[in-house]
Amino acid sequence: MGFGTGHHPTTRLVMENMVDIDFKDKNVIDIGCGSGILGALAVKLGAKYVAFVEIDPMAIESCEETVELNGLKKNEYDIYNIDIVQDYKKIDLSIFDLALINITYDVVEEIFNVVNFDNISYYLISGILRNKKEDIKKFFNKKGYEIIKEDYLDDWLFIKIRGKI
Ligand SMILES: C[S@@+](CC[C@H](N)C(=O)[O-])C[C@H]1O[C@@H](n2cnc3c(N)ncnc32)[C@H](O)[C@@H]1O
Repeated sequence: MGFGTGHHPTTRLVMENMVDIDFKDKNVIDIGCGSGILGALAVKLGAKYVAFVEIDPMAIESCEETVELNGLKKNEYDIYNIDIVQDYKKIDLSIFDLALINITYDVVEEIFNVVNFDNISYYLISGILRNKKEDIKKFFNKKGYEIIKEDYLDDWLFIKIRGKI
């Protein structure tokens, strides 16, 4: 229950914004996947493959349950129990078209300071408190990314960013 039932505003913001996206045949990375609800939805919306990435072994168990309950096929996903910041080289990041990232702001910054995503077209980022809006805008502008959408629910901010491809 603690790892993403879909009811938390940060999760809802991503899910609601996912329905406008064409996932057909896309490779998706769900970073901080928790229960895996976002990645599972991506497959339901037509994604070809999802990499679920999560640091917490308890959440990994929950993610395994989600993929089973949703009938994801073996070739449609992998689950990585890693710290994305420390261990991102364990994943071939060049294959991904879209990234779903619902994680606290400090980790979002760490990820974008360290990880090199080559071919990603769009990042859907949530988990950021609304009062961090100006900080996050400055951060991504400085890094040369364009924020193409903002959305809000309660105290939370969602942003959609265009990749630098
Ligand atoms: C806010 S929850 C989001 C869960 C789910 N994606 C959702 O939207 O409901 C953030 C998740 O990111 C994970 N996380 C935090 N830091 C991480 C890191 N450095 N690498 C991988 N996962 C991380 C946490 O363990 C937690 O499960």
